[in-house]
Amino acid sequence: MARKLAAGNWKMNGTTAALAEVAALTAAIEAETCEVLLCPPATLISRMADMAQGSGLMIGGQTCHPNGSGAHTGDISAAMLTDAGASHVILGHSERRADHGETDEDVAAQTAAATGEGLIAIVCVGETEAERDAGVTLNVVSTQLAGSVPEGTDLAKLVIAYEPVWAIGTGRTPTLEQIAEVHDHMRAELTERFGQGAHNIPLLYGGSVKQSNAAEIFAVSNVDGALVGGASLKAADFSGIVSALSGA
Ligand code: 13P
Repeated sequence: MARKLAAGNWKMNGTTAALAEVAALTAAIEAETCEVLLCPPATLISRMADMAQGSGLMIGGQTCHPNGSGAHTGDISAAMLTDAGASHVILGHSERRADHGETDEDVAAQTAAATGEGLIAIVCVGETEAERDAGVTLNVVSTQLAGSVPEGTDLAKLVIAYEPVWAIGTGRTPTLEQIAEVHDHMRAELTERFGQGAHNIPLLYGGSVKQSNAAEIFAVSNVDGALVGGASLKAADFSGIVSALSGA
């Protein structure tokens, strides 16, 4: 069985004032049994990690560069994330793929760098609406999975997030059957490639997860948690999703 993880992706949101949400969240999740992670903008990682010490909350980054250091203005390395107190990093989010032209090859290099530094890599995959309409969702997910997760990856440092691009920030979600179809497919592909150890890789669903739909999504086969955007910004909303996962 994979461990359960509720992960929040703050994207490009949050300044010092938002740290109040972290204090509220650490208090709200005290009794919860699942893993809880927040991935704030890089500017808040260190302060959030300090606040989260001794609580059940873990802190992560939203991307990292494949290289350890060097002339890459604006980028952040895996070692910098761990130094700031991060334990995880989101890689290959569709917004990175779209805004920064990141390819599967880039994401594989980032994954190798992150896991090599001891970070847990949350590798994101997911189809566009046009791809779903064309009936190629499973092919797209297979290609991204195969290309974005490098050979020899330490499975203990791998999490996969299925995020249909058309469900992100739109309030639309796939049907539970559609989520099950993709998650079962990912589990089968990962098991074929990596063996039985792949059953321990947490598979997260992401895209318009909120308190009101979380429980039904967490009941779906091979869904081990969620990667949450908008509903992770407020502790009151996110803690409801964490409770739903703990109880699933
Ligand atoms: P929303 O939960 O805002 O749809 O965002 C999902 C997402 O992209 C998380 O990485």
